[in-house]
Amino acid sequence: MKLEVARILVRDPAKNRATVGAVPAEVFTTDWEQLVNDPKVDIVVELIGGTNRAFDIVAAALRAGKPVVTGNKALLAERGVELFELSRQTNTPIHFEAAVAGGIPIIRTLQDSFIGNRILSFSGIINGTSNYMLGRMTDAGLTFEEALAEAQELGYAEADPTLDVNGWDAAHKAILLASLAYGFPIDPAAIHVSGIEKVTPLDIKFAKSLGYVIKLLAVIREQDNGAVEIRVQPSFVSESHILASVHGVFNAIAVHGDTAGESMFYGRGAGQNPTASSVVGDLVEAARGVTEGRHRGFLPYKEQGVLLPVEETTTGYYVRFDVVDKPGVLAQIATVLAEHGVSLSGTHSPADSTNPDAAFRDVIFLTHRCPYGQLQGALEEIDRMEDVNKQPVVFRIETLS
Ligand code: HSE
Repeated sequence: MKLEVARILVRDPAKNRATVGAVPAEVFTTDWEQLVNDPKVDIVVELIGGTNRAFDIVAAALRAGKPVVTGNKALLAERGVELFELSRQTNTPIHFEAAVAGGIPIIRTLQDSFIGNRILSFSGIINGTSNYMLGRMTDAGLTFEEALAEAQELGYAEADPTLDVNGWDAAHKAILLASLAYGFPIDPAAIHVSGIEKVTPLDIKFAKSLGYVIKLLAVIREQDNGAVEIRVQPSFVSESHILASVHGVFNAIAVHGDTAGESMFYGRGAGQNPTASSVVGDLVEAARGVTEGRHRGFLPYKEQGVLLPVEETTTGYYVRFDVVDKPGVLAQIATVLAEHGVSLSGTHSPADSTNPDAAFRDVIFLTHRCPYGQLQGALEEIDRMEDVNKQPVVFRIETLS
């Protein structure tokens, strides 16, 4: 099989890029319709990102019967249902290994190797940029801004890093994993997502002193009643858990299948080369399919499924309050928590041994597992207390198997 680059769509053909000299200048075009409709083009590789123009290109390629390779997780998470429907109607495949976890072959693993499993859960680190940044903030004491600048310089972040740091890059990937595993359309608005923008050096320090590290964790889990929980948040992970050792731009995804049991996939989740590895793998798969006509996408084996409301998702919590130091303040907070059925598993209030008279401000409560809605109810009430200065900082404490 010989693959040839017939056309490259760019915004600015004059821009100096690595392909200069490697492909003839006439290969470049700024007209996407010309590229898609060119009879020399048999397969379209979409790596422009975004969800509007990318949708037009992918849809036009499918209508023209040209298989598509894409790494665009936002596009598939938001409009994958439409695109895979078109893919079925046109009998033309979309390959998307590069959309989740860079160089780790997790998509094909789910489509092929684990097809005989009911997937009970996924948990993992699926945004390399956030993981890199949290590591640098923890180990080198960098600020959020310094860590982000480094990640961008190294080419880990998306063109618009907002999605990396606000959790949505990971959430889009989580939607793709859940779509493959559970086979029903998933509404992105129903997912509980927060990113690492609000992680402070203070919480990183407290986490460490309590035996945890903070990781941006994606958790997808099917409940006994069939409802599916999908969450992405910076979470406390025990220092001794394997995910605590996932450093830098690496990703790790634990998959729990009913027959395979637990498997862990680990590798480079971002960066040019790992992504290229997945794109080229898909390109070859697409080229094989051009003659054989194979295609796969989300498997629509359910019209509708149920997502677990965020209020019902259950974990332990780390809650840090910023309080006025006066008698009874702790008791008041503890009372409200107790009234809402939130049980404490520990407390922590760092004292300054060199200055025993210094006012304390930061009070930490660790809780037993309870539904998030129950904690929210307590926190709304605590928020109205005069002696509580700011909204509390909350991290989930994940109990991972
Ligand atoms: N920017 C992404 C990450 C890589 O940091 O994981 C592509 O999804």
